[in-house]
Amino acid sequence: MTALTVALLLVVTSALILRWRRPAWYWLAFGAAFAALRVLVRYTSVMDACGLTVPPSRWRLAVARVANRPVPESRAPRILRIRPTRTGLVLRLKLRPGQDAFDVSAATDRLRHSFSMYGVTSRELRSGVVEVRMTGYDVLKRVQMPAKTDHEPMRVPVALREDGAVHYRDYRAVPHGLTLGATESGKSVYQRNLVAGLAPMNVALVGIDCKQGVELFPLARRFSALADNPDTALDLLEALVTHMEGVYQLIRAEQRITVNVPDAEIAADIWDLPDHLRPVPVVVLVDEVAELALYASKDEEKRRDRIITALVRLAQLGRAAGIYLEICGQRFGSELGKGITMLRAQLTGRTAHRVNDESSANMAFGDISPDAVLAAIQIPTDAPGIAVTGDSSGGWARIRAPHTSLREAVNLCNKHADRTPDLPALAAFRPATAALPSDRVPLSKTAPATA
Ligand SMILES: Nc1ncnc2c1ncn2[C@@H]1O[C@H](COP(=O)(O)OP(=O)(O)OP(=O)(O)O)[C@@H](O)[C@H]1O
Ligand SMILES: [Mg+2]
Repeated sequence: MTALTVALLLVVTSALILRWRRPAWYWLAFGAAFAALRVLVRYTSVMDACGLTVPPSRWRLAVARVANRPVPESRAPRILRIRPTRTGLVLRLKLRPGQDAFDVSAATDRLRHSFSMYGVTSRELRSGVVEVRMTGYDVLKRVQMPAKTDHEPMRVPVALREDGAVHYRDYRAVPHGLTLGATESGKSVYQRNLVAGLAPMNVALVGIDCKQGVELFPLARRFSALADNPDTALDLLEALVTHMEGVYQLIRAEQRITVNVPDAEIAADIWDLPDHLRPVPVVVLVDEVAELALYASKDEEKRRDRIITALVRLAQLGRAAGIYLEICGQRFGSELGKGITMLRAQLTGRTAHRVNDESSANMAFGDISPDAVLAAIQIPTDAPGIAVTGDSSGGWARIRAPHTSLREAVNLCNKHADRTPDLPALAAFRPATAALPSDRVPLSKTAPATA
């Protein structure tokens, strides 16, 4: 008896400690089973209390009257499937006649409290079927990406969404992206995660880091071209435009279309070419983009105009040539001058980290979703890395990238350095690898000598 009590006490204590220190492990060990049981037991009463039931239909009332049975109860949506996941529960519901997906999404906050879950979101799968995703704990507090993610070319699992799903940056679906955020909000860490995700893929990385290269130069072994100041950035962008024109010539030669067809009208892209002919896709990462658009003299203004023109051309024509832009900055609005809003309009994938004012959030989401603007402003200062991102359905979600340190990213880039392609048009911008950081040196070699 005493042994049983001690064992029980041990289990309860370890469950409590896990719940406090390692909510993800607690969820897998205990939480998922408890929550599934709680949802199933309380389901009908909670749905009733949340206004998600429909009164009995006329024919059910008639049948009850004829059979002299009690009046049938209101009915909740039917549970088609309940599936525990790494971070929560996924419920698939068949709506009753008269209900719609909006009813469920409007009640998500009430469901969250009633089922004692951390978060609840819902989305319509098909007409009459709604998926309700519940999370058992704050998955964004300590981001752990699942060991298994989808592996598709040019699709990077970059962050975790608040509903526990993986957020992918899919370059073929959304070619160009813009990431905004105040200083210290996590933009560079997000970009570092992208580099880490792209490093093992068959892709050329090109970087422009006007913060004197502090973010991207340590990762240089995996980069085919790098620039750390606006002058080099201009030459690099113009070389990229030349590379793009070369790729178009290749596609055109393969299509056997006459040379009079203008570049912009060519519908095919590199993915239509046979494998042996396909040029390697290029992802251009720009950190601190505002540095490229600021100027203090007439000469710098000319340089700025040429840089923005090259960026706009790449954004407009680059996708078919396999050139994808990933732009990061603190603000990216019309105050940066001519051509900026035109460039912004081409950057479909929007992500906003914490911003200090509404106008910055508007630069990312003003023309897409007012709710997302509000969500971006509400990101707390003590949670760097949390961001709001537009998703493929036109909605938005809160995400957070894992905290990949610069050392981890350097190691990964060094490991995949042999995958770095040589692009002839960009050869002049290939970083010299002699002075680049190596992998972690074993601790014994770095330990200070003791006297
Ligand atoms: N996803 C994350 N998870 C945990 N901590 C993070 C995350 N992203 C960023 N941080 C923390 O925030 C700090 C600032 O991040 P980062 O350098 O990416 O900001 P930034 O937006 O690029 O700032 P700046 O505009 O000054 O370059 C990092 O050093 C790190 O400690
Ligand atoms: Mg930064």
